[in-house]
Amino acid sequence: MNILILPGDGIGPEIVGQAVRVLEKLIAEGLSARLEFGVLGGAAHDRHGHPYPEATQRQARAADAILLGCVGGPQYDALPRALRPEQGLLAIRRDLGLFANLRPALLYPELAAASSLKPEVVSGLDLLIIRELTGDIYFGQPRGRRVNAAGEEEGFDTMHYAVSEVERIARVAFDAARQRSRRLCSVDKANVLDTSILWREVVTRVGRDYPDVELTHMYVDNAAMQLVRAPKQFDVIVTGNIFGDILSDEASMLAGSIGMLPSASLDANRKGLYEPIHGSAPDIAGQDRANPLATILSVAMMMRYSLGRGDLADRIEAGVRRVLAGGLRTADIAGGEGTRTVGTRAMGDALLEAI
Ligand code: NAD
Ligand code: IPM
Ligand code: MN
Repeated sequence: MNILILPGDGIGPEIVGQAVRVLEKLIAEGLSARLEFGVLGGAAHDRHGHPYPEATQRQARAADAILLGCVGGPQYDALPRALRPEQGLLAIRRDLGLFANLRPALLYPELAAASSLKPEVVSGLDLLIIRELTGDIYFGQPRGRRVNAAGEEEGFDTMHYAVSEVERIARVAFDAARQRSRRLCSVDKANVLDTSILWREVVTRVGRDYPDVELTHMYVDNAAMQLVRAPKQFDVIVTGNIFGDILSDEASMLAGSIGMLPSASLDANRKGLYEPIHGSAPDIAGQDRANPLATILSVAMMMRYSLGRGDLADRIEAGVRRVLAGGLRTADIAGGEGTRTVGTRAMGDALLEAI
């Protein structure tokens, strides 16, 4: 197994550094894998003048699994859109056909106090957001800027989904629901958008193949509200690219911090790119303050989905539980009796010990 490591920008190198220590430990103990390093995003633009350069494309296509930190930063914000770090991330997702983005939001009991919601609202929370990742308004054409009939400049994007794109993400979601509590909620905006009307029709049709799964539909504005009102009503949520982007950041706060949420972006054959859902956090980059657990939990997802090593995934997740139970916290989840706030590296040290 060939694992490509792309640290990215901002806090990326710090958090990926801790995750790599975990991988190296597993390899030293017999996991058959080889690590290779590459560049994506701003780091790739610095070196090659492009956020997803050819060298990285070759590495990414050849890899069995990829671990990514995060990309972006204020120093790149003025670049033309095609050269921005975020475009490198979108390009690698699209190039590798990583259409299924799994974003589990799980509240570790020790972090109930870190959530901005009341403990009784979030305790026991365990939901899975399945976000379509290679379609929608993110990739729709036409897009751009133009001068309209009134002579005013405007920007425009196109939201769209083809039937086949909705079908394949719906199947991933129904299959996932079957592995869990057999409840699936599809989130759309079918009261307004043609794209969503088609989405709802296709999800409903696919659902006929899964009579054992209870399918419900919810408008995205209501879903955003319900997620903070009563999040435990959800088990698996399936939604489009942009709604999933927003709802998963919202859901992260149910789990205490965005620094806790991992993700897997999978193709049709379970090749995957694994990354925390958060960004490059320029406000804390280089200060040894970032929470590395979302990235380390992304390694656990890699073990489970791409390497077929659910045993190692369980071991990493148990390690995270043990470290939290022992009272260690990074600043984003700090607070509570008997806890001690530590930096990125010390959290990594404790986790290595715990696994
Ligand atoms: P962000 O997720 O980087 O940060 C939002 C807030 O959460 C910040 O206060 C940050 O300090 C905090 N935070 C994020 N991760 C953390 C962690 N591991 N530990 C502790 N605190 C953490 O979002 P943003 O500020 O909107 O974006 C910053 C840059 O990241 C932008 O360039 C954006 O485009 C990019 N971005 C990249 C990704 C990605 O690579 N997948 C995702 C989102 C944003
Ligand atoms: C994410 C990020 C990306 C997205 C950006 C950086 C392109 O916010 O992975 O959630 O919008 O998909
Ligand atoms: Mn996002």
